[in-house]
Amino acid sequence: MANDQDRMERIVSLAKRRGFIFPSSEIYGGINGFWDYGPLGVELKRNIKEAWWRDLVRSPPEGPDGKPIQMVGLDAAIIMNPKVWEASGHTEGFTDPMVDCRECKVRFRADRFTRCFVCEDPDPGQEVTVRRIINVCKNPGCVTFLNEIGSGPEQLESLVRRALGSKKAKLESILVRDDISNAGSVSGFRVIDGQRSYLVGGEWPASAEADDRCPRCGGRFTEARKFNLMLQTHVGALEDSSSLTYLRPETAQGIFANYKNVLDTTRLKIPFGIAQIGKAFRNEINPRNYTFRSREFEMMEIEFFCRRSEADKWYEYWRDARFQWYVGLGLKGERLRLRDHKPDELAHYAKACADIEYSFPFSRPDYEKGETVGFDELEGIANRTDFDLKRHQEASGRDMTYYDDETKERFIPYVIEPSGGVDRAALAFLCEAYDEDEAPDEKGKMRKRTVLRLHPRLAPIKVAVFPLVRKDGMPEKARAIWAACREHMAAFYDEKGAVGRRYRRQDEAGTPFCVTVDGQTNEDGTVTIRDRDTMKQERIAAEAVLSYVRDHLHL
Ligand code: GAP
Repeated sequence: MANDQDRMERIVSLAKRRGFIFPSSEIYGGINGFWDYGPLGVELKRNIKEAWWRDLVRSPPEGPDGKPIQMVGLDAAIIMNPKVWEASGHTEGFTDPMVDCRECKVRFRADRFTRCFVCEDPDPGQEVTVRRIINVCKNPGCVTFLNEIGSGPEQLESLVRRALGSKKAKLESILVRDDISNAGSVSGFRVIDGQRSYLVGGEWPASAEADDRCPRCGGRFTEARKFNLMLQTHVGALEDSSSLTYLRPETAQGIFANYKNVLDTTRLKIPFGIAQIGKAFRNEINPRNYTFRSREFEMMEIEFFCRRSEADKWYEYWRDARFQWYVGLGLKGERLRLRDHKPDELAHYAKACADIEYSFPFSRPDYEKGETVGFDELEGIANRTDFDLKRHQEASGRDMTYYDDETKERFIPYVIEPSGGVDRAALAFLCEAYDEDEAPDEKGKMRKRTVLRLHPRLAPIKVAVFPLVRKDGMPEKARAIWAACREHMAAFYDEKGAVGRRYRRQDEAGTPFCVTVDGQTNEDGTVTIRDRDTMKQERIAAEAVLSYVRDHLHL
């Protein structure tokens, strides 16, 4: 595949073509930051949520002391009393710094810009690297302009033309040298404009400054202002401040608000966890990178309540257990990493935090930190201390303490929080699974094949069943096998078109096995079963299909 941008475009195109992900309300031109999951996408998301629920709530792993972990579920309302968000600090602090263009009124995040440089290349023959561009462009006299992070080469080309005042400037070489592994995104370019050669490079990320200009119209910016990310709505007939509420920006606060209810009704003893999966909403200013930063998304969160003296132990435990969960579902070592936050990155309430990060095709390295590969957050694991329960105790007047009848102590527990996004996980699994290889067509000619090598637990369809042709009793036999399978797993029946094309469609859907009823089935009762990854076929008894698929998929 040409580069990461190309790879991402192919993934997006496959996801649309095969019914994984559609832009929301597409018939009206879509709505930025909102996505719909089609027939295959909804199964993929359900499988992720079911895997999470089964592995963490119904059958959690053993704790660090070898004892079973106690975990229960919760499903709190999306809209809560607005006092919850005051107590949690979201009303005051859940903000991004924003600047508005005074001319075109478009709003930008003040801290998320690529500051690009364009300058005449003093030595066009010399090898171009990003470092060289930045060094050259630090010289006075070069043109600088701002560019939103995540822009592709076409957008950069038009920005460069505007900066140079030339309609003809052409992006020439994309730099894939020393510190650039992410050639698909804007990194560094040589630009040719007639006889002149320019260098284009940037700093990532930069902050908007007073003399910076709007990348869309060249207008001046306002001062940076705080912009609250919570989506507002009104409950009841009146639309005034008394009816103002919010669509929750995280599921966590629903857990904290119910902590005492759960404790009183379950007789759980510390340590224990409360888990929740549900929608969250954030009015992100620049939704971007496909579903990665959306305005409506699903979260999978655990608040794990423990003694203060054991919080470090449980933090380490969850950090590693959550990382292993993604590995177990197919995310590979070099694309997945666990990154501990530095003290200056920690939220004010957190004592420690680590992110599980994935290298998406659009992830961009932070060159200033010396990175050569980009990563983006999949899940965060934080030691939230007793901050939230204390805040809710103060604000609600309700007792949030836990009484330990062994030690006869009363205290507010510490909380370890693994908090992940379902949509980000789905995107990472799709990106990891996407592959292209070659397979013979009906005439034996090798053709490009697109295949999703999804982990069997995540595959939307586990087995597809085909009759080779629509006659000789084959459809009836195939339907009987399909009926036997679909009682136990997601199974699919298809009798239309050449069988080779039916295989390709299932490869694109990530279906691990395809079963074909053919002429030999009438003779000896066997069918072929084809493995998605190896494309190898073997013959097994028609009655053995269900147990074969179950055994091989470890369902
Ligand atoms: N309660 C902690 C919390 O909300 P967060 O890091 O803001 O922490 C947790 O969010 C996870 O939710 C992230 O790791 C990410 O997977 C997902 N997430 C956050 N914002 C998102 C967005 N705009 N679009 C998609 N997923 C998002």
